[in-house]
Amino acid sequence: MFVDLRFNALKMLEMLRDKRIMFIGDSIQRGMFESMVCLVQSVIADGGDHTIKRVPPRKIFRIEEFNTSIEYYWAPFMVESISDHATNHTVMKRLVKLDSVENHRKLWQGVDILVFESYVWWMHKPFINATNWEWEGGIDGNCFNETQPVEGPYWGTGSNLEIMSILKDVIEKLKVNVRLLNITQLSEYRKDGHTSVYGERRGKLLTKEERSEPKTYADCIHWCLPGVPDTWNQLLYAILLQDYRNH
Ligand SMILES: *[C@@H]1O[C@H](CO)[C@@H](O)[C@H](O)[C@H]1NC(C)=O
Ligand SMILES: *[C@@H]1O[C@H](CO)[C@@H](O)[C@H](O)[C@H]1NC(C)=O
Ligand SMILES: *[C@@H]1O[C@H](CO)[C@@H](O)[C@H](O)[C@H]1NC(C)=O
Ligand SMILES: *[C@@H]1O[C@H](CO)[C@@H](O)[C@H](O)[C@H]1NC(C)=O
Ligand SMILES: *[C@@H]1O[C@H](CO)[C@@H](O)[C@H](O)[C@H]1NC(C)=O
Repeated sequence: MFVDLRFNALKMLEMLRDKRIMFIGDSIQRGMFESMVCLVQSVIADGGDHTIKRVPPRKIFRIEEFNTSIEYYWAPFMVESISDHATNHTVMKRLVKLDSVENHRKLWQGVDILVFESYVWWMHKPFINATNWEWEGGIDGNCFNETQPVEGPYWGTGSNLEIMSILKDVIEKLKVNVRLLNITQLSEYRKDGHTSVYGERRGKLLTKEERSEPKTYADCIHWCLPGVPDTWNQLLYAILLQDYRNH
């Protein structure tokens, strides 16, 4: 039977009725959370009972009419680390506690759908080499003023296929049902999709002066909304829909 897998906000909320979904990870994951909040806006009543609450390390979007919570949980490495404080955390020096999620676990418990992501795991130093050299050119050699995706075939060297396949093997051996949402390749193409000089730095929009220095200030890591994170959520939707129909 034909199943329409295209994102449908009402269907999404029906699937999430009486449920909690939590996006766990770093600031990239916050973008996915924000995208989901935006994607469902079109079908929740104006002036209805919905709120975003900041309860560090969480942000909680409640939609009363569906008894649904869409949540974000700051845990940049997923395991415990010295960067777990929601606002006061270090980027320059990272220490992780590899074998423990004990502190986080308490707040993950009881959540119906957990979505994990960690970009910072793949960073080698505070300075991020945003694969500019692979993008060939662009003004200032970064994502600033880029308007077209990378033309394939292309695989970013920052995305290690060997580690990815280890991850896949590990996930397949788990007793709990965990799926890998493989969004790496589709995202890597999108050098045009980053916030560039139009985003925030430490919670503040860039100043006019900073914006005029894209070489220093362009953010080629985070994503614009609407944009690439919506695609991640559309794929997540398709997976959830298949589960939903099978139960
Ligand atoms: C709302 O959802 C929670 C589970 O997330 C459930 O325990 C509770 O009974 C629901 N409330 C109502 C009024 O249905
Ligand atoms: C931030 O964390 C550091 C290290 O834990 C601490 O020394 C400092 O006082 C904290 N700053 C604020 C504003 O809480
Ligand atoms: C980024 O990484 C590439 C490949 O390792 C290297 O050739 C290039 O010099 C690096 N750029 C910077 C600014 O470090
Ligand atoms: C952005 O690129 C276009 C050409 O693609 C160019 O005309 C424009 O001047 C550039 N803008 C800036 C601010 O550099
Ligand atoms: C993820 O997708 C890429 C192609 O887009 C593929 O090369 C890679 O093997 C996939 N990884 C896993 C773990 O399936």
